[in-house]
Amino acid sequence: MGQSVLTSGFSRVDGVLHCEGVSLEQIARAVGTPVYVYSTATIRDRYKRLDRMLTPVPHRIHYTLKANASRAILALLRELGAGADVVSGGELQRALRAGFAPSDIVFGGVGKTETELAEALDTDVLFVNAESEVEIRMLDRLAREREMTARVSIRVNPEITLDAPHDYIKTGGRGHKFGVPYDEAVHVAEVAAGLPNVRLVGLDMHLGSQLSRIDPYREGTERLASIFAEVKKRGIDTIEYLDIGGGLGVRYDTEQPPNLQRFASLVLPTIADTGLKLLMEPGRYVVGNAGVLVGRVLYRKRSGGKEYVITDTGMTELLRPSHYGAYHRIQATRVRPDTRMVDVVGPVCESGDFLARDRELDDVHIGDYLVVSDVGAYGYAMASNYNSRLRPAEVLVDGDRWAVVTARETYEDLMRHEIARPDWRAAGAELADESREDVG
Ligand code: LLP
Repeated sequence: MGQSVLTSGFSRVDGVLHCEGVSLEQIARAVGTPVYVYSTATIRDRYKRLDRMLTPVPHRIHYTLKANASRAILALLRELGAGADVVSGGELQRALRAGFAPSDIVFGGVGKTETELAEALDTDVLFVNAESEVEIRMLDRLAREREMTARVSIRVNPEITLDAPHDYIKTGGRGHKFGVPYDEAVHVAEVAAGLPNVRLVGLDMHLGSQLSRIDPYREGTERLASIFAEVKKRGIDTIEYLDIGGGLGVRYDTEQPPNLQRFASLVLPTIADTGLKLLMEPGRYVVGNAGVLVGRVLYRKRSGGKEYVITDTGMTELLRPSHYGAYHRIQATRVRPDTRMVDVVGPVCESGDFLARDRELDDVHIGDYLVVSDVGAYGYAMASNYNSRLRPAEVLVDGDRWAVVTARETYEDLMRHEIARPDWRAAGAELADESREDVG
């Protein structure tokens, strides 16, 4: 458990990079590039590691869809026994379509619309992670209208300062937009418990993402446990779940992945003491190392003393390098005898469109395939159509078989929602419609 050698679904066979038993070149030739390729063995390995680590306490892993919501990956995780964590109406629909039962799904998010909250209630999800008193009151009203009880958990901001690699992926520090401020949590819990159509069933937090240290989890869990104790003292005895979020980091370069044994010994006893069921919402840990992005070299270019490798793959397929300055390993599918110091860039009309800067890379030729590693989380999920680029295909590998699980977009897909003959309306028409209704 913990620090045993991590399964990597990717290795060289006869000098060519493979995903499990399948050559990445074979996939690229058949499907074209850019293409995301995922290893089922790696996903299974990470899920099972985490599940084993949590065995000492009653628990459930709710895989977070935002990291990668591809249906095939969701189906795989559902088969492994995972629940789902969704943050939008769209993710809820994806989870249902992938076969998750409503009771397998928790619904979170800092800015849920009334429609989304209604959808969560109509679906009868396990619970909604609410982030403010106003939201809880809205859930109460929506539940009353439906003659039901809304199961609600309160997302508490644990207000723990930590060192995530980028400011944008810190979420649980004082003053962040997420959750109920720590010192208001008990009050909000009392409000929730007092509402007729709300049942307060959980307490929740999320510290941040790509965390390698365990101490913040210990501190945050202790903070949730102390809120639980205080709330219990005040006579609220409906809480069943402690949801401690996602955030476990992975190795991209030289980072130490979190020590799961340490997690078990430092965090689980606090949870065991509460007697509550533990929920975790991991994304990156489960899928991050399980995916690569294969692109192709289009051109080589020199400019102002710099060398560029221009590929068919850029920020539209993988936003992380340009958005967070994130590091992703890049290799050619076949090792070249020499290396060069280059910038690996995409075709998008932005200077910020790069996959790597000043990187020692195989001395690749035009037409070679490049493999960008560890992009299973927040890769395809953050892809865009900027420059009217088609979102890439996704392929799943299982041993020595592989399948396209998401088709590459087509030009038709790009323009599907455009209205060729717009239906022009006069200003004020909305008002006229409303007054007509009044009269009716
Ligand atoms: N639960 C909540 C409430 C979250 O906000 C997040 C991620 C997760 C769970 C899953 O966290 P994970 O286990 O994946 O670290 N796009 C960024 C990461 C943003 C994470 C946002 N929240 C990136 O590419 O690094």
